[in-house]
Amino acid sequence: MFVALEHLLNLKEGYRRVFPLQGRSLLLMVVEGRTLLLENRCPHQGAPLHDATLVAGVLRCARHGIEFELLSGRALNAQCPGLVHLPLAYAADRVGIEL
Ligand code: FES
Repeated sequence: MFVALEHLLNLKEGYRRVFPLQGRSLLLMVVEGRTLLLENRCPHQGAPLHDATLVAGVLRCARHGIEFELLSGRALNAQCPGLVHLPLAYAADRVGIEL
């Protein structure tokens, strides 16, 4: 089942928005022309990531400062599982997720 999250025309560079979905929190972002969907939950101790700083492709969690390479999800400065990327789905003029 396709669940629409956003109109494609709203996806502009720097876009960042949180969507609650079935008890989860998803983070939709546009970074360097790519649309990315992540679990809005730091793999370290679960802090939300929507306020994380993003510099040169590195997302830095505000809670303890662990840095993640955004595209690969890999933790850079700590032993920690990586970010959880979710596959995007598209239907007509919307981007969303297939459940
Ligand atoms: S919860 Fe994100 S770095 Fe600890």
